[in-house]
Amino acid sequence: MKNAVVSSLLVSGAAAFPWVAMQPGVDSSILRLKPRQQVGEGPGGPDTCPFNANHEGARPVTDEYPYNNAKDGIPGNGKGGYQVPAPGDTAHQFEAPDYSKDIRGPCPGLNAAANHHFLAHDGIVTFNELVDAQQNVYNVGYDLATLLALLGLTLTDGDIVTQKLSIGCDATSRTSFNPLLTGSEPGLDGHNKFEADTSLTRNDFFTGDGDNFRFNGTLFGMMNDACDGNFNRENLGHYRADRWRQSKMENPNFYFGPLSLLLFGAASFLYELMPSGTRGYAPDLETISSFFNAVQQDDGTWVAGEGEKIPDNWTNRVEPYSNSDVTREILAMYLVEPVLFGGNTGPDSFDTLNFGNIQDGKLPVGLDAADTSCLLYQLATQSVPSYLNGVITPTVEALSFVAKQIGPELDNLGCPRPLT
Ligand code: HEM
Ligand SMILES: *[C@@H]1O[C@H](CO)[C@@H](O)[C@H](O)[C@H]1NC(C)=O
Ligand SMILES: *[C@@H]1O[C@H](CO)[C@@H](O)[C@H](O)[C@H]1NC(C)=O
Repeated sequence: MKNAVVSSLLVSGAAAFPWVAMQPGVDSSILRLKPRQQVGEGPGGPDTCPFNANHEGARPVTDEYPYNNAKDGIPGNGKGGYQVPAPGDTAHQFEAPDYSKDIRGPCPGLNAAANHHFLAHDGIVTFNELVDAQQNVYNVGYDLATLLALLGLTLTDGDIVTQKLSIGCDATSRTSFNPLLTGSEPGLDGHNKFEADTSLTRNDFFTGDGDNFRFNGTLFGMMNDACDGNFNRENLGHYRADRWRQSKMENPNFYFGPLSLLLFGAASFLYELMPSGTRGYAPDLETISSFFNAVQQDDGTWVAGEGEKIPDNWTNRVEPYSNSDVTREILAMYLVEPVLFGGNTGPDSFDTLNFGNIQDGKLPVGLDAADTSCLLYQLATQSVPSYLNGVITPTVEALSFVAKQIGPELDNLGCPRPLT
């Protein structure tokens, strides 16, 4: 019943491919490499994952404060430009997480939504909550909101039966309908799935000793230096390439696969979803630091504050941010300073990969329209190389879940149907 099947790896490859040691099922003690995928007491693992006995679901939108009126996973109005949280709406004011109880993870957008009760405040969220919150808070289009929620649930091993997902660490006992049948469900912290190397403000899994999800103030400072107060496509494109070079140099397990395309999408959220109408939709430092929970010290360095917060007087984008919008931004940002897809296989040795449109590690400049709009969809429905000799293959159950949730949208896109 697991959502994704990870193909087995040959341990003999481990010497040549150090990242192999990180994979489930490989005994890393033999290889004397640490750490493995979130297990036990490690960062992001089940033993250290916060537990809140008082799980309260997302607080729904009401007739008085309807936002986009997105409820129960169905399409909302798709009309933004309004203030969030609405003046007077006490249910959705910022409430700092209690980090000893509440789960937060690598995604500032979802962390902020949880801190404002648009998602469950303890970080154990449902598929419908994810689809609703993205529309109500950020005016993400229904098509993209659904696709991202599906990617979250199927790729990073949320649970397609309970439709629950941890937005951070491994909370299998709370997300899974039956842990014996599903095995562990690592949540959004799960590495080389949705979460991957070269994040804007999070460590690589390997160089961070397994902490691939906490805010890193040094990285935020590097991003701010690269962007100089303007977090637009061009500046973020160069910063992403800087991070790629850093990972290639410092991380022997560096892997940059097809799923890393999602990181360009996430980076586009800084200038497409976070800016406020009350600040002329500028992707400026005041806005970005609030969403990232970045607080500057007197000496100029950055540390985490009390939680990701929607800035005061914030109004969201007017037009919905759709699947085709984000795909266009992914390609455009990639082309600002193209880098190779592949992974480190040893000192000074990097192997490129082929997958779909990615050939010899490169994404071509001129993709046709159909390929482009189906790009993210393919990541949810095809076997995707998730490291150099491993592949994530969605199960039949996961594929039929995707097909059920996204049926009509998919026909419009003309994407190939998954075989269910
Ligand atoms: C269901 C919807 C979503 C899911 C499952 C999701 C999941 C994730 C994950 C797993 C990451 C980590 C990727 C990495 O390794 O860097 C991430 C990063 C990010 N997400 Fe989300 N996300 C969702 C929606 C959103 C929304 C609506 C926003 C809007 C502001 C957002 C903003 C970001 C940003 C800015 C990053 C980059 C953080 C960094 O690299 O430091 N996400 N998201
Ligand atoms: C934050 O990132 C920097 C730069 O990659 C790194 O040197 C440092 O160890 C990281 N800090 C933590 C606490 O992980
Ligand atoms: C928000 O708006 C109120 C009322 O217009 C104003 O008094 C306040 O200074 C604004 N706050 C910020 C941070 O812009």
